[in-house]
Amino acid sequence: ALNEQETIDLPPDTGRPLVIGFSQVGSESAWRAANTKSIKEAAKQANVELLFEDAQQKQENQIRAIRSFISRKVDVIGFSPVVESGWGEVLKEAKDAGIPVIITDRSVEVADSSLYITLIGSNFKEEGRKAGKYVLDKMRLVRGPIHIAEIQGTLNSAPAIDRKKGFEEVIRGNHAMNIVASDTGDFTRESGKAIMTRYLQKYGRDIQVLYSHNDDMAFGAIEAIEEAGLRPGKDIVIVSVDGGREAFQAMLLGKLNCTVECNPLLGPQLIQAAKEVVAGHTLPKRIVTREGVFTKGTAAREIENRKY
Ligand code: AHR
Repeated sequence: ALNEQETIDLPPDTGRPLVIGFSQVGSESAWRAANTKSIKEAAKQANVELLFEDAQQKQENQIRAIRSFISRKVDVIGFSPVVESGWGEVLKEAKDAGIPVIITDRSVEVADSSLYITLIGSNFKEEGRKAGKYVLDKMRLVRGPIHIAEIQGTLNSAPAIDRKKGFEEVIRGNHAMNIVASDTGDFTRESGKAIMTRYLQKYGRDIQVLYSHNDDMAFGAIEAIEEAGLRPGKDIVIVSVDGGREAFQAMLLGKLNCTVECNPLLGPQLIQAAKEVVAGHTLPKRIVTREGVFTKGTAAREIENRKY
């Protein structure tokens, strides 16, 4: 179910549009902007009434928004959880009110998985593995030890936890690879720049690889590297996650070496899942988006196909 090509039986026309309350993480990155646009456009196209709330990267704002959706008796609640834990109580409130919850993008850690219907989004651990494989391949002819700096996403968020785990899993077997620095940003360009500035002050030219958990933080780091008089993409190999258009431009300029795709265009799948659940269909617990890896070598060919 839920491939974009597939059609579904729609619920009987009740004469009123479906109402979805959606609590978004924030507007921290280009990825997030594309995700928000996709959700709003898909709702509009499907004639769905969307109550949209931006939580500004704060869990308490998301909990408040979900409670307000419950009291407004929406048909479906959607949300992308800023962090993994701390959702049990509010999800129980939604369940008790009989409102199905669809999670998009980031996962939650709950003891009772019946508190939500499905999670639509990427496999972040796999993204971390893909980044790790790229680094192993790119550095295979360089004599170790290889010093890697990591800029993690938001503390306790699913993408930060899993992108770190997946990356470490892959490089662990190669003893030349050492993560010498790892700090949490919040997926913004500013945090990427601030963290990379600190790394460069401490380690200078000793850093050979930068693994950034998203494109925006990599762009901030690129600025810091240039300000320190080094060449991003050459003196420091940089791999990031998201695969937005700006990452392709940076690869064409030789400043970024690789971006692992994380597709933000989840709107059509969210709306379709909401319609299906209201129509009484059973959905798979996990709907994973399909994604690739792009390097400087494939950037020119792919850039025109980028939709975000
Ligand atoms: O949850 C997905 C992540 O959140 C994206 O990689 C990042 O850019 C965004 O802010």
